Amino acid sequence: MTDQAERLRALVQGQRDYSLRRPEGSPRIFVVASGKGGVGKTNLAVNLALSMGQMGYKTMILDADLGMANVDILLDLKPLYTLIDVIRGEKELQEVILRGPYNLEVLPGGSCIPEIISLDNWQREELLSRLSYLEQETDFIFVDCSAGISRNVVTFIAAADELVLVTTPEPTAITDVYSVIKVVDRYYRQANIGLIVNMVESAAEGEQIFQRIARVCHNFLAVKLTYLGSVNFDQYVHKAVVECSPYVLRYPRSPAASSTRQIARHLLGVEKAAAAPVKEKAFLRRLFKHWSNQAEKA
Ligand SMILES: Nc1ncnc2c1ncn2[C@@H]1O[C@H](COP(=O)(O)OP(=O)(O)O)[C@@H](O)[C@H]1O
Ligand SMILES: [Mg+2]
Repeated sequence: MTDQAERLRALVQGQRDYSLRRPEGSPRIFVVASGKGGVGKTNLAVNLALSMGQMGYKTMILDADLGMANVDILLDLKPLYTLIDVIRGEKELQEVILRGPYNLEVLPGGSCIPEIISLDNWQREELLSRLSYLEQETDFIFVDCSAGISRNVVTFIAAADELVLVTTPEPTAITDVYSVIKVVDRYYRQANIGLIVNMVESAAEGEQIFQRIARVCHNFLAVKLTYLGSVNFDQYVHKAVVECSPYVLRYPRSPAASSTRQIARHLLGVEKAAAAPVKEKAFLRRLFKHWSNQAEKA
């Protein structure tokens, strides 16, 4: 086994024997990831979060795409600081969080992992207590990841409640998303993976692609793949991006907006049905623990 594989295994082992139930009042975490870039992760994260916001839920996006953080651009927000400034003790969380429509909060991540890893236990606890506000006030957190399966993304997956994978009908996107599923299957078998097929020509096409991937998973892997739905290729998505305004707000009657609302409802329904156990109460605490484990193994 390669060093990398060893580390990944170690990374997720710590949370296999979890037994805690999800306590009332802690947010549910959706990590949005993909194999290939440009498949619509950021647009989906933003518009799903806003759809839930419109339903009255309090949502937050953690912009964790280190290379191309652009949640703020889609929402026309101007970040001045990132989580790094909070970690360094130079800013309060309230100064870093951006506020979008429908109470949506955006936390620009920055490349904060090395910073968090280098904190000692006392500093980490102190930071967590300052961040605990996030956990109390929020119903859903969407983590918008970089494309592909870097160490960083695996850490988020390991700490999250649910993984939402995005693909398009393109063969390369499908192949790449399957590679992500394989890695998750290998290191994190009880993962609950939801799949969204974006930029389809028809709902039938989305369904077909899901069936194809699900069949391969069923034959070769142990992960359970749930179909969350599809979003049509829709020029209004592009128009909304250009106008720096999320499509569910700008073009609420567009096909993409209505499919996205349906996926949001599906996610809420899945939540009720699954009642998944969680490993530890606070997401950030879980995340920090994984980052620290990583540091030790590195
Ligand atoms: N359903 C869709 N229909 C048409 N274009 C889309 C759709 N979803 C995304 N796009 C286009 O793809 C581009 C990339 O989307 P983005 O959300 O930034 O992808 P990612 O975060 O996966 O890199 C967007 O700028 C938009 O123009
Ligand atoms: Mg993106």
